[in-house]
Amino acid sequence: MKRMILLGLTIVMICCAGFAMAGAAKVAEKGTGITVIPATEWENQFPDVYASYMANSENEAVIEYTEEYPIIQTIYEGYGFAKYYGSARGHYYCVSDLMATGRPHALANCFTCKTAEFTVMTLNDGDSAYSLPFESVDSAGLEDVGCFTCHANEPGGQITITHTYLADAVGEDIASIPQADLSCGQCHVEYYFAPEGKNTAMPGTRLAELNPDAMYDFYEKMGFSDYTNPRTGVNMLKTQHPEFETVLGKGSVHGGTFTCADCHMAKETNDKGETYRSHNLVSPLASETIQANCAACHSDLAGFVHGIQEKMVGRTVAIGENLKTLTDRLAEAVASGKYTDEQLADCRALNRKGQWYWDFVFVENSNGAHNSRLDNRCLDMAEAFINAAMLQLDKLEKSDI
Ligand code: HEC
Ligand code: HEC
Ligand code: HEC
Ligand code: HEC
Repeated sequence: MKRMILLGLTIVMICCAGFAMAGAAKVAEKGTGITVIPATEWENQFPDVYASYMANSENEAVIEYTEEYPIIQTIYEGYGFAKYYGSARGHYYCVSDLMATGRPHALANCFTCKTAEFTVMTLNDGDSAYSLPFESVDSAGLEDVGCFTCHANEPGGQITITHTYLADAVGEDIASIPQADLSCGQCHVEYYFAPEGKNTAMPGTRLAELNPDAMYDFYEKMGFSDYTNPRTGVNMLKTQHPEFETVLGKGSVHGGTFTCADCHMAKETNDKGETYRSHNLVSPLASETIQANCAACHSDLAGFVHGIQEKMVGRTVAIGENLKTLTDRLAEAVASGKYTDEQLADCRALNRKGQWYWDFVFVENSNGAHNSRLDNRCLDMAEAFINAAMLQLDKLEKSDI
């Protein structure tokens, strides 16, 4: 497995060297002694980009999901997210939010998507950096997602992928994926920590494999789970923010045509009439500049998007309530001691699968806006698996009498 990944990476790197076409992302070279040039040192050269980058601090509101959606206290029981699950906010807060969360951190791999200072350790020292103790990374003064993360030490129109597991996960498709999508896909993706090396990895080797069905099969084949629910005994998967997969997934209207940058990084004009990419990553609904590019087809983008989101959130919560009921019922069946593991096996498997598809939508950050067709299909699957699990329980309970 490991060898395949290394081979894949080598091929990717050779391909990129061979087809270094404009607009295609580069992959960072590994080596020793790479150092991070911090964002502050680019301020003079790119004052507008720098100012917009610092404006990510304005996105500071946090919602505590365990209070907003109490069902997850049951659904994620046995995992830290059942206790603390703050919503995402601006990149400016990555490191401080990591340090402040009440969830336990065992290893340095938790820094993967927070700071380039850690990324550079993985480039210099290889996968062994991921399994260092969490405390061994000095968090004082660490820069949040920095210029290095997306551009290495050459900020400008070229994107360099510094999180090399993404290059492994898309394989040779890297050449056909817009570089701006790749820059965000370094973190806004579903990932796992490899059971042996504890390195950050993604469940696939080609873009076409990064869909909810194939990723589930990947984890099944590996026998992987993130945690076990202590009351139901189900080995659970925890999906993580699959924005990249959703935007580029089947059913996406704009994925591949509009990039993450087209919808979240406006092309602004400064006082001198020069244009630059805003690095303040905002909702398209918060930028008049972005919306001007949508107006020809969406006369009321906000109303349209909110309509999709309202329906999606309503459906997700309703199915989540069923998932909670299933979890409680299965826990009761286990606690009753009346049934063997063999009798409970089908129900547990359906619970695991139903939750995977539900979570895929619940944790995706656009609430349906990125790809409502894919999200609705996932919710259909979740509903079907949860209902089938409930039927299994009905049958078991009937067999008691
Ligand atoms: C190095 C990892 C990393 C990369 C690369 C990255 N992000 Fe993020 N992003 C995060 C993390 C982590 C958070 C949550 C930060 C927090 O809450 O403290 C976040 C938060 C956000 C938010 C705020 C979400 C909210 O609910 O307010 C937006 C928008 C966003 N990212 C968009 C992007 C876009 C667009 C790109 C590509 C141009 C990108 N990100 C690249 C890690 C990353
Ligand atoms: C066609 C436009 C479009 C594209 C392309 C797009 N997004 Fe979005 N994105 C949206 C919309 C619309 C929302 C919902 C905004 C809202 O609720 O205000 C959103 C929401 C988000 C959020 C939550 C932000 C928040 O403020 O709540 C994140 C994070 C995000 N997108 C990341 C990405 C990433 C990463 C990509 C590329 C892989 C991407 N988006 C591609 C339109 C787009
Ligand atoms: C999360 C990823 C990300 C980070 C962090 C980031 N950039 Fe960018 N940058 C991009 C993307 C995406 C583009 C647009 C690429 C494209 O057009 O395909 C871009 C474009 C640029 C450009 C060319 C467009 C322009 O405005 O002239 C410059 C210069 C630039 N970035 C500088 C910086 C600097 C300086 C920093 C740090 C302060 C930084 N970037 C941080 C993703 C990032
Ligand atoms: C050339 C016309 C056109 C332009 C320009 C356009 N869109 Fe769309 N958009 C569409 C069509 C058509 C749909 C599908 C409508 C439907 O499903 O009913 C759509 C759907 C969407 C959706 C919902 C996707 C889903 O999966 O349900 C979002 C969000 C969206 N557009 C955002 C944007 C944003 C943001 C911009 C500007 C950056 C934009 N669009 C520009 C034609 C356009």
